[in-house]
Amino acid sequence: MKMIRISPRQALKMRALRRRSSIVERVLMVDQILSEFRLEREELKEVMRRMQREMDRGLRMETHDEASVKMLPTYVRSTPEGSEVGDFLALDLGGTNFRVMLVKVGEDEERGWKVETKHRMYSIPEDAMTGTAEMLFDYIAECISDFLVKHNLKHKKLPLGFTFSFPVRHEDIDKGILLNWTKGFKASGAEGNNVVGLLRDAIKRRGDFEMDVVAMVNDTVATMISCYYEDRSCEVGMIVGTGCNACYMEEMRTVELVEGDEGRMCVNTEWGAFGDNGELEEFRLEYDRKVDETSLNPGQQLYEKLISGKYMGELVRLVLLKLINENLLFQGEASELLKTRGSFETRFVSQIESDSGDRKQIYNILTTLGVLPSELDCDIVRLACESVSTRAAHMCGAGLAGIINSMREHRNQEALKITVGVDGSVYKLHPCFQDKFHNIVRELTPRCDITFIHSEEGSGRGAALISAVACKMAASMLSQ
Ligand code: GLC
Repeated sequence: MKMIRISPRQALKMRALRRRSSIVERVLMVDQILSEFRLEREELKEVMRRMQREMDRGLRMETHDEASVKMLPTYVRSTPEGSEVGDFLALDLGGTNFRVMLVKVGEDEERGWKVETKHRMYSIPEDAMTGTAEMLFDYIAECISDFLVKHNLKHKKLPLGFTFSFPVRHEDIDKGILLNWTKGFKASGAEGNNVVGLLRDAIKRRGDFEMDVVAMVNDTVATMISCYYEDRSCEVGMIVGTGCNACYMEEMRTVELVEGDEGRMCVNTEWGAFGDNGELEEFRLEYDRKVDETSLNPGQQLYEKLISGKYMGELVRLVLLKLINENLLFQGEASELLKTRGSFETRFVSQIESDSGDRKQIYNILTTLGVLPSELDCDIVRLACESVSTRAAHMCGAGLAGIINSMREHRNQEALKITVGVDGSVYKLHPCFQDKFHNIVRELTPRCDITFIHSEEGSGRGAALISAVACKMAASMLSQ
C-alpha cells in the first residue's frame, strides 16, 4: 500500500477546511431551528384575518361572551365637550412601576391647550402585586399620599384620572370591573370588582387626603388621547411594552354592547387574549408553550405572550437552551444563571441587537450570565434575539393591520388616512422593532395612509386630559 505524505502546510489547510465546514454545518443547523420563527406573508395575512374575525365576534352581542378579543367599550366618545383647565392628578398602574403625576392643563393661544407634568415613580413590591387587592390598593394610596406631601398638595381635593392597564368592563368612564389580571399581577379579590371603588375605599381607609376620581382609562386609550391633542387624525392607540394591546375609535352602530348609533366610541380591543380560543395554535412553538405553562395565567394572553416585553427575554432564553442542548452553542454547556427562569431580561434583546458589530455588548451581557462565548456564539445569540423580536414585530403588525383595515371597511371608505399613537418599552427601545413593524402594517393595509407617532408620557397626560373632559361634561350636565 502506498502511503500518501502530507506536508505540514497541507495538514494545516485541511484542518482549517474541516473547521470551516463544521462552522457552516453548525450555522445551518442553528438556522434550521430558528427558521420556525419566520412567518410568510400569507401566514401573516391569515393571522390578520383571524384577528378581524375575533374583533367582529367581540363587538357582537351574540358572540361577545365566547370571543377571545373582548372589544371592551370605554365610554370615551368622539364628541369632545371641550375641557376644564386646572390641576389634575394622574395615576398609572399596569407595568412594573406605579406612577403618580400632577398635570396642569392650561389654555394655549396656538393649540388651545397645554399640559405640564411633575411625576414620581414607585416600584411595586412583588407581594403587593400578588397579595390581596387591599394590599395593592393600600400601597397605591400610600404612594399618592407621599406624592401629595412632597408637592404640598395634601389639602387640595384634586380631580383624578386613573390609567389602569388591564381588561376592564366599563359601565361608564369612571366605573368598571376588572375582568382578569394580566402581565404577572395576581392580587386576589380584585377580579370581578369595581376598580375605582377599590381605589376610593383605600383612600378612605387612609383618611389623610381626598380625591375625586373622575375617569379610568386603559393605557392604550390614554396614549391615543394624548396623541389626539397633537394630531386630530389619531384614532388608534397601541402599547408594546410589558404587555401588548390596542384601542381605536369604532362606529357606535357596530359597538353592540352600548346603546346608540351616533358617532364613535373608543374600543379597548384587549387583543393580547387573541389565540386563547386556539386561533394561534399552528404558529405557537415549543418555547411559547413553555413560557405559557410557567406563567401566572396559563392559557391566557397567548398573542401577548408572542410579542410583549414581559415574555420576550424568556423566549430567547428558552431558544438558547435549545441550541445548547443540541450542542450548537457554548460548547453544549449552560451556566446556572442561564438555566434560571427570567434571567435573560428583555432589555438584553434590545442591547444585543444594538451591538455595533464588534460583539462587545453581546460579550459583556453573556459573561454576566456566566458563559464565556466565542465570536460565533455571540453571533448565534444575536440571531436568536433577531428571530424572536422579528416574529414579535410581524405578529403585532398583522394585528394592527387587521384593526386599520376593519376601520376602513366599517367607515365605508375607499381610502383611510389615520394616525396611530404608540408607547411602550419594546416599541421605543428595541433598535429594529419599529421599522419591521411599520413595514408589515403598511404592506398589509394597501388603501391606508398611516402615520405613527410616539406618545410622550401618554399614560399620565391622557388620563389627565380625559379627566379634564369628564369634568367639563359633569359641569355642563349640572348646569342643565
Ligand atoms: C395587557 C393588558 C392591557 C394593556 C396592555 C398594555 O395586555 O391586559 O389592558 O393595555 O397589557 O399595557
